Amino acid sequence: MSIKSAQQTVAFFENASAGLFSEAEIQLAEDLISNGQEHLFSDWDAPGIRDEAKREFMASLGNAHAAYPGGLPAYTRNARRLLAEAALGANPFEGCMPAEPDMVDLSSFGPDYDAAESEGLRCFAETAVILVAGGLGERLGYHGIKLDIPVEVTETTSYLAHYASFIKAASKRLGRQIPLIIMTSRDTDSGTRASLEANHFFGLESGQVTILRQELVPALSDMNASLALEEKYKLLLKPHGHGDIHTLLHTSGTAKKLADSGVRYLLFIQDTNGQVFNAALAAIGVSEQRGYDFNSIAVNRIPGEAVGGIARLVRDGAPDLTINVEYNLLDPLLRATVSPEGDVPNEDGFSKFPGNINLLVIRLAPYLKVLESSGGIVAEFVNPKFADSTRTSFKKPSRLETLMQDLPKSFASGEKVGVTIFDRLWCFSACKNNLPDAAQKVAQNAPPESASSAENDFYEAGRIKLRAAGMTIEETPRQMLLGIPFTTGPRVILRPSFALTLSDVRERIRGGRISGDATLILEGDVHLDNVTVPDGCSLIVQAKEEHPISLKDFTATPGLHFFLQPLTNDELASNEIPEYLRIRGYRIIQKATPV
Ligand code: UTP
Repeated sequence: MSIKSAQQTVAFFENASAGLFSEAEIQLAEDLISNGQEHLFSDWDAPGIRDEAKREFMASLGNAHAAYPGGLPAYTRNARRLLAEAALGANPFEGCMPAEPDMVDLSSFGPDYDAAESEGLRCFAETAVILVAGGLGERLGYHGIKLDIPVEVTETTSYLAHYASFIKAASKRLGRQIPLIIMTSRDTDSGTRASLEANHFFGLESGQVTILRQELVPALSDMNASLALEEKYKLLLKPHGHGDIHTLLHTSGTAKKLADSGVRYLLFIQDTNGQVFNAALAAIGVSEQRGYDFNSIAVNRIPGEAVGGIARLVRDGAPDLTINVEYNLLDPLLRATVSPEGDVPNEDGFSKFPGNINLLVIRLAPYLKVLESSGGIVAEFVNPKFADSTRTSFKKPSRLETLMQDLPKSFASGEKVGVTIFDRLWCFSACKNNLPDAAQKVAQNAPPESASSAENDFYEAGRIKLRAAGMTIEETPRQMLLGIPFTTGPRVILRPSFALTLSDVRERIRGGRISGDATLILEGDVHLDNVTVPDGCSLIVQAKEEHPISLKDFTATPGLHFFLQPLTNDELASNEIPEYLRIRGYRIIQKATPV
C-alpha cells in the first residue's frame, strides 16, 4: 500500500506536504503504513492543527526506529513471531531434563578461594566493568537515581562512588585503566551524568567511563503487533529490560572497541550491590581456570525460594542449555521430569539449582561472535496477559522484553557455561525494597534487600575480612530496626585503596580486637599489627599517596564516636530529612564519647 492511496492516511500525507516532516520521517511513515500500522496516522488533524504534537509523535517514532536493530519493521516482525508462539501456549521446556549446572563452590574461604581470587586479580587488568543502571527502582520508590544512594552512612559513600573507588584502586594497582561502561535509561541518564560530573568522575579518567543509554520500546496492542498509543499523537512506550545492554554494547561498537583494546572479560554488575567486589575477582578467576565463556555468580538457594534457579537443561538433539529458570517454573519442571517431589534440598539444605543474582562474567571473544550473529538482539520474549482462553487479545498492551542473563539461549558454538557459588552476604545484598515491603519479606524469611540490610551487610563483609585476617571481633547483639535485622557494630569499612582482595587484608592486618559499637575505617597503604578498637571508640586511618601508615600494639581511645540513631516517626515522614536516610530509618552521627 502506498501512502498516497491509503484512504486513512491522506491526512498524514497532507501534513507531510505542508512541510512538517523530513524525508526520513516520511519514509518511516510509509514503511509503517505498508507494515500494518496505518492506525498511527488515520485520524490526523488537517495541517495547522496540533502541528507540534505531530512533530513530536514522528520524532518519537524516529527514536524508537533508530534504537532497535533493523528499526521498527524488525521490531514488529519479531513481535509477530513471538506473539504467534505465545498464542500456542507451548511449554518452553518441552523435552528438557533439568540437571545440576557445571559449578564451582566458593561459598567458604580456603586455598581454592585464594587461588581463584589471585587469578582473578591478574585477569582484572583485562576486564571491563559493565554496570546496568537503567532500572526504575519502583520497589524502592527513591526519587533520585539509585547509584546516588549511599551504601553506608557513616561516611556516606554512594554506590557509584564505591564502584568507582574499586575500579580506581584496581587500575592503579594493575597499571591499566579499567573501563567502566554504564547503561542508563531515560529515567537515569541525566542523573548519572550529573553525578559523574559533579564528583569529577570519582577519580576515574573521563575517558575511562562510557555511558550507553537504553531506550524504551513501543508497546503492542494486539496479536498483529499494532503499536499502541497512549493518546492521539503519543506512542505508548515501555522498558525493554536489562538485556538491552547486549544490544547497546554491539550497536555502539563498544564491545568491539573493548576487545581491540585488549579486554578479555566483561563483569556485569547491578546498580545497588555493595558486596559485588568481594566476590567478583574470584569469579573472574574461576572463569579463567575453568574456561567458562559465561559464568554466573550465584548463591545457595533453599528449594522454593523466590529466586530463579540456574539449571542445565539436557535436550534431545540439541546441546545442553545452562540457564536461569524462574522459581515458579522450576518446581513444576522438576515434578514433570526428574524429581516427582519437586525441588528438594541436598544434605546442606540447599537446592541443586543455585540462585541467580544477575552478576555475570562473560568472556569477550565468544560474546562478540554472538553479538555479531544476533545483531545484538539477545533472547527476546513477549509475555502478553491474554484477555481470555482464546489467546487472541490482551488485557493491556504488551511489549518485547530481554534479560541479560538469558544470553546463553543465543549460544550456538559449544560455549562453556558455568556457575560460581558464593556465600550470599559476601556477594550480593541489594537495595531494592522500601522499608515496609522489606519488613514483610523478613517476616516471610526472605532477604529484605532494603537500604538498611544492604548497609548492615556492607559492615558485616568488613568484619568477615577482619576475622579472616585473624582479628577478634565482638559484635553487638542483633536488633530489629523497623522490622529489619541490624547488627550495629562494629562497623568496618575497608576501602578498596586499602585492600582489593582477601589476601590483601590478611597481609595488612595481624591480630588485634574490635568490639561492640566501634568503628574502623581503613584507606590507603595501612598496616595494623595487634590493634584494638574498644566498644565506643573509632579508628579512622587514611594513608595518603606514598605515605604508608603502620600501627603496632595500639589501642584506640575514646574521642569522636559514631553511633546509630533511629529516626523518629516524625522524621521518617518529614521531607526535611534526606530521603537516603528515610529509606533506611536511621542516621549515623558522630559525637564525643564521654570519658
Ligand atoms: P532490578 O531488578 O533492580 O529492577 O534490576 P529495577 O527496574 O531497577 O527496579 P524495580 O523492579 O523497578 O524495583 C536489576 C538491574 O538491572 C538494571 C537495574 O538498574 C538494576 O541494576 N536495569 C533494569 C536496567 O539497567 N534496565 C532495565 O530496563 C531494567
